[in-house]
Amino acid sequence: MDHIITKEKYSIVLKRKPDWKEIIFGEFLMLLDITESMFRRGSSVQSNSECANCNDEVLQAIVNNSIHMFENTEYGDMEEPKRHPSSTFDMDKLKSTIKQFVRDWSETGRAERDSCYQPIIKEIQRLFPSDRCDVSTVSVLVPGAGLGRLAWEIARLGYICQGNEWSFYMLFSSNFVLNRCEKVNSLTLYPWIHQFSNHKKSSDQTRAIQFPDVNPQSLPPTSDFSMVAGDFVEVYTEQDSWDCVATCFFIDTAHNVIEYIETIWKILKPGGAWINLGPLLYHFENMANELSVELSYEDLKAAIVNLGFQIEVERESVLATYTENEHSMLRICHQHQSLLGEKI
Ligand SMILES: C[S@@+](CC[C@H](N)C(=O)[O-])C[C@H]1O[C@@H](n2cnc3c(N)ncnc32)[C@H](O)[C@@H]1O
Repeated sequence: MDHIITKEKYSIVLKRKPDWKEIIFGEFLMLLDITESMFRRGSSVQSNSECANCNDEVLQAIVNNSIHMFENTEYGDMEEPKRHPSSTFDMDKLKSTIKQFVRDWSETGRAERDSCYQPIIKEIQRLFPSDRCDVSTVSVLVPGAGLGRLAWEIARLGYICQGNEWSFYMLFSSNFVLNRCEKVNSLTLYPWIHQFSNHKKSSDQTRAIQFPDVNPQSLPPTSDFSMVAGDFVEVYTEQDSWDCVATCFFIDTAHNVIEYIETIWKILKPGGAWINLGPLLYHFENMANELSVELSYEDLKAAIVNLGFQIEVERESVLATYTENEHSMLRICHQHQSLLGEKI
């Protein structure tokens, strides 16, 4: 619980950054075509701190709904927990979790989901078509599931689907959205208030998104959907147990990507399929005191084949984005590889 940024912590961290509007004013404003009072009020645009307060409310609801998630005792029953100031690491995790709400559970994220999740879903449907097999017996694992939308979509189609996630930020937030949110577009987040550069319009920074774009509890009653917490390589050790493993923007989160691929190979049933989509933006690259094995795609492919996969389909240079601000002047588009391997 120490690692969760509470209301106080989140606001404090945001307040530490002085607003340039409080430092630069006077004659300078004439150049901006606005009056000082408009400027102070932020004209019709909501201020960053108002937006941060709204984010706080959602974050507080997430924390409050996580109290019984992993243990039978309430965290409040324990001795007063030690409080540490939020680290840059904490804040980075928090910001990426807020942006993951856009990707996974908002209408704004639909195009990004279509480009990343749909190719995987279509491949699963091609390999295990509902008119030729009983999909309710086909098991699909999604490691690094984020806020669970890809796994949820696969379960919605009738497959047994399990998402696996390691980050508490993602786990608490996916628990909230999957188990506590029902009403479509009933909650609001301001995902871009932490981005201070590359806005075309001032109002772009305080743009809101609503979530969830669908009712997460609308899965058919017969569906078999679960989320499991823990490190992928530690949790999944049982040999020959999955029909399909689907990884999306995941394999580059490894310290050693070969370890992930060995695990995938081991847990797949013989003839089972691994579908992968994403870049090779190795997360531990350049991190002090962290092991990081950064293979090129060429070397990775050789390792995949040598480990015992037969590559059935390979698409190079597929363009996709990850938690992208579509209004930003700087947009990063990954040219990634997608690959289907069969365990032989
Ligand atoms: C780049 S995100 C991709 C999330 C999601 N698959 C998507 O496409 O939006 C990678 C996710 O993998 C999770 N992750 C990283 N290492 C992991 C591990 N060892 N076991 C399980 N999940 C892990 C991270 O917490 C993060 O949510």
